[in-house]
Amino acid sequence: MNHLSSLGSSSPGRRIRAIPPRRVRPAPPHLPLLGAARASFGSIALADTCLLACQHILSSTHSLLRALVADGLERRNIAVIGKCYSTSAAAYAEMRADGLRVCPSSLELDPRRSFDEQFRASVDAFTRAALAAFEQRRPRRILVLDDGGELIAAVCEQVSDRSRLAAVEQTTSGWQKLRQRELDFPVVNVARSSAKLVHESPLIAESVAEQVEQVLARVAPGARRVLVLGAGAVGDAVRLRLAGAHAVKRFDLDPARSDFDAARLAEALAQAEVVIGCTGGCSLPRELHSRLRPGCVLISASSSDREFDAPALRAAAPVTHLHEDLCVDGVHLVNLGFPINFQGERDPIAPAKIQLTRALLYGGVLQAAATPSAAARGFVDLDGALQARVVRDFTRTLADERAA
Ligand SMILES: NC(=O)c1ccc[n+]([C@@H]2O[C@H](COP(=O)([O-])OP(=O)(O)OC[C@H]3O[C@@H](n4cnc5c(N)ncnc54)[C@H](O)[C@@H]3O)[C@@H](O)[C@H]2O)c1
Repeated sequence: MNHLSSLGSSSPGRRIRAIPPRRVRPAPPHLPLLGAARASFGSIALADTCLLACQHILSSTHSLLRALVADGLERRNIAVIGKCYSTSAAAYAEMRADGLRVCPSSLELDPRRSFDEQFRASVDAFTRAALAAFEQRRPRRILVLDDGGELIAAVCEQVSDRSRLAAVEQTTSGWQKLRQRELDFPVVNVARSSAKLVHESPLIAESVAEQVEQVLARVAPGARRVLVLGAGAVGDAVRLRLAGAHAVKRFDLDPARSDFDAARLAEALAQAEVVIGCTGGCSLPRELHSRLRPGCVLISASSSDREFDAPALRAAAPVTHLHEDLCVDGVHLVNLGFPINFQGERDPIAPAKIQLTRALLYGGVLQAAATPSAAARGFVDLDGALQARVVRDFTRTLADERAA
C-alpha cells in the first residue's frame, strides 16, 4: 500500500495510479537459475534484435531483462508493459532508472472498468508505439515475450511482415487464446512445459494460500465457513491449507471435484462467510451477488479481476488505491477483486523460488532468438534439455534451503 495515491474516487474516467518511489535499489536480485538456462545455448546474437514484453513488473523480471542485456540486447531495443494489479512501483522505478522502457499504463487503473478491457487498449497503443520506435532501427529479429496472449495477438494484427517474428507465451490462458489463431511464426510454449506445470503451480498455490490466511485474520478473523470456487491446482491447495481451521466447501464445474452440484450453489453462497474464486474466469456473476450473506468476504486468486463482477462493486464505492479492500452493501471485496497474492511488493514469491519461472522464460526467449522464423509455425515445445537443467538446479536449491 505504500507508494500509492488517489487521483480521486471512482467517478467515471478517473484513474488511480501507483506512485513510484524516488529512491531505488541499484540492482535486481541475482537469480542463479538464469545461468542454468543460459547453459543450453552457445553464442547468441541479440545485437540487432528488439524485444516487446508483457510481464509482471517485479524485481525478478528486471533480473531476467538484465540477463538479456548481458547477452547483447540493447536497452533501447526493449519495451515492456505490465499489469497494474501486479506492478511493483519500486520495480517499475528501478527498471526505468536502469534505462528500460516500461509503459506508464503499467501503474494505472480506471476502477469502474474491467481490467481486461483497459489492458487490451493499452497493449494495442503500446505495441503501435514500440514498433514505430523499433522500425527506425530496422531490426533483424523482433521477439515477443507474453503473459496472457494479448501482446502476441496485437503484434499479429500490427506486423504485416512476420518473417522476423518469434515469440514466447508464459500462461495457459494465453496458450488457449492463441491456439485459435493461425500463427505463421514460432511461439515457444513455456506455458505448457512440464517444468512450469509441475514445479510452478505449488509456488503459486503456496503464495495464494499464505495471503488468504493473512487476509482472513485481518478482515474476517471469526469467519469459519469458506466456499472455494474452482478446485484446480490453486483452489485445491487453498482448500487444503484452510481446512484445519475452517469449514471449507468447494464447488467446481467438474462434479468429481465438487462437494455439491450446481443446483445448490445459491444455497452454499448464502451460507458462506468467505468466497474464494480460483476458476480463472467469472465464477460469481452479478446476478448471484444478491445471494451472498451480509458481511461476506470475496477473495480472488485468479489473474485480472474476472472472478466477481469487480467493476460493478468498485463503481459503487470511492476507490483510492490499487490494493484497497472495499465494502459495498455489506460485501467485502478484497484487493479490488485482483489476485490476493499481488499487493505491490517487489516479488510476491521469493526470488529464490520464482527464479524457476524467470529461468524458463529467459531460456524461452533465447530459444525463440535461435529459431529461424521460417523454421517453425505456431507453438513449439520449450527445449527439453533446458527444462531438465533448470529443474535439476531448482530442486537442488530448494533441498539446500530446507537443509540449511
Ligand atoms: N495468483 C497468481 O499468482 C496466479 C498465478 C498463475 C495463475 N493464476 C490464476 O489461477 C487460476 C487457477 O489456476 P489453476 O492452476 O488452479 O487452474 P485449473 O484450470 O487447474 O483450475 C480451474 C478450475 O476451475 C474450474 N472452473 C472453471 N470455471 C468454473 C466456474 N464457473 N465455477 C466453478 N468452477 C469452475 C475448472 O473446472 C477447474 O477445475 C488461473 O486460471 C490463473 O488465472 C494465478
